[in-house]
Amino acid sequence: MGVSGAGKSEIARALAESTGWTMAEGDEFHPAANVEKMRSGQPLDDEDRWPWLHSIADWIGKQEQAGLSSVVTCSALKRSYRELLRDGHPSVRFCQLDASAATLQARVEGRRDHYMPGALLHSQLRTLQSLEADEPGGRVSTEGDVPQVLRRVLQLLAEGKAAILVVGLLFVLSLNVIL
Ligand SMILES: Nc1ncnc2c1ncn2[C@@H]1O[C@H](COP(=O)(O)OP(=O)(O)O)[C@@H](O)[C@H]1O
Ligand SMILES: [Mg+2]
Repeated sequence: MGVSGAGKSEIARALAESTGWTMAEGDEFHPAANVEKMRSGQPLDDEDRWPWLHSIADWIGKQEQAGLSSVVTCSALKRSYRELLRDGHPSVRFCQLDASAATLQARVEGRRDHYMPGALLHSQLRTLQSLEADEPGGRVSTEGDVPQVLRRVLQLLAEGKAAILVVGLLFVLSLNVIL
């Protein structure tokens, strides 16, 4: 998750390549009307976003049911959007990609083939509700090169696994005490 230019596509591709996970681009789940609106420089409103988010959530559900680990890019700027994506999908973890405003601006401007004009970046930065401590996942800086950022993301995922292992271990230990 993160605003335009944060590195979602770049880092998700690198993550999928290094892990063999399936990958999807959240942008590709937009109905044509949304793409047209963004191309003309108008920000999307929540009414535009719900059907898009539901399509991504359906994809997540299918991956979960198939038992596949996967990564999907999605700006997921508001907590309510993330709650929709997580609803009924206990395996979801978010990775918020952060970068300075100057870095974001330079990346977005350098990407001329994309339908997101630079002016929309400011609207996205105003809308962004950062990942909170009680949401699953964490935040990673995307300053630095792609391999560096990928290492940070893998570290974040590994920390999550360690937490699950520690909880599991505590459970086994407490069972021993009880028995
Ligand atoms: N860590 C990075 N270092 C250098 N360039 C990056 C990095 N992450 C992304 N980029 C570049 O910045 C631009 C925007 O990244 P992208 O992944 O398309 O962002 P998003 O999908 O979040 O909008 C792309 O040209 C991409 O190659
Ligand atoms: Mg992208």
